[in-house]
Amino acid sequence: MGMKTDPSVLWGRRLAVIGLGKMGEALVSGLLAREAVRREDLAATVRHAERREALASRLGVAVGTDNAEAARDRDLVVIAVKPQGVAAVLDSLRGALRPGQLVVSIAASVSTWTLEGGLPEGVPVVRVMPNTPCLLGVGMSALCAGRHATEVDLQMAQALFSAVGRTVVIDDERLMDGVTALSGSGPAYFYVVVESLAEAGVKVGLPRDVSTLLAAQTMLGAARMVLDLGAHPALLKDVVTTPAGCTIDGLLKLEEGGLRVTLIKAVVEATRRAGELAEE
Ligand SMILES: NC(=O)c1ccc[n+]([C@@H]2O[C@H](COP(=O)([O-])OP(=O)(O)OC[C@H]3O[C@@H](n4cnc5c(N)ncnc54)[C@H](OP(=O)(O)O)[C@@H]3O)[C@@H](O)[C@H]2O)c1
Repeated sequence: MGMKTDPSVLWGRRLAVIGLGKMGEALVSGLLAREAVRREDLAATVRHAERREALASRLGVAVGTDNAEAARDRDLVVIAVKPQGVAAVLDSLRGALRPGQLVVSIAASVSTWTLEGGLPEGVPVVRVMPNTPCLLGVGMSALCAGRHATEVDLQMAQALFSAVGRTVVIDDERLMDGVTALSGSGPAYFYVVVESLAEAGVKVGLPRDVSTLLAAQTMLGAARMVLDLGAHPALLKDVVTTPAGCTIDGLLKLEEGGLRVTLIKAVVEATRRAGELAEE
């Protein structure tokens, strides 16, 4: 699952991150921690000058407020502002970009078509949906190439996000809303699950810190079993479920509460909303 990429395609590349917010910082921290990009090859921008210094000293990279200056002559320019801010960023970058540079956008709902329309003709674009665990190198990012992006461009974008987690390439851009709703928003769903299981532990008498550890490490372990063994989750569940044991009683309660349908509806609803955001 996911794809292996050659990290060496990033060596010596110069990178600008436009919008060093939560996601931008997670990406930059992850890249630096894994030495995928050299500090001196990184530049970033924010909108409010007062945030520059704290970020620059925390990350050890140059942080400015002039997007065109940060992006000029960079091999890769990552746009990491809110979807509503993308149009203004494209305006600010237009004069500084040429087709030899690659633009990577992580803005939810903003299509490659929209990005291409706001940039000089021929500038290659790759749209990516990452998630916050990129901060720890266990992110999940889905990538989708625009019209002008070559195989090498896609590989470069993939190497960037492979440095901070797993990646997958999506050929049909219409599926990116579903990706946004599943793996982009997904950490929030899982935090609610961990929180609820921890609450359950407290209910049955466990200290909160112990029950949070039990819940979170169990989630991590279950995820690793699916990813590393490549086994169907239903088969893995059956292994835990002893006939007439206690797990089956727990599972019945989950079915009674409609956990499956609720999760499916959550993703369907978030997918719908992702599509709507594109219009705003
Ligand atoms: N959060 C997630 O889990 C997640 C997951 C996947 C994708 N994304 C996408 O990532 C993007 C960023 O989300 P976020 O949660 O990281 O937002 P955020 O924390 O609000 O960060 C946005 C950053 O962009 C900066 N900015 C805004 N306008 C700018 C401009 N014109 N020029 C330069 N910098 C500008 C802001 O600067 P100031 O700090 O000075 O205001 C801020 O640092 C969104 O498009 C979102 O769809 C987020």
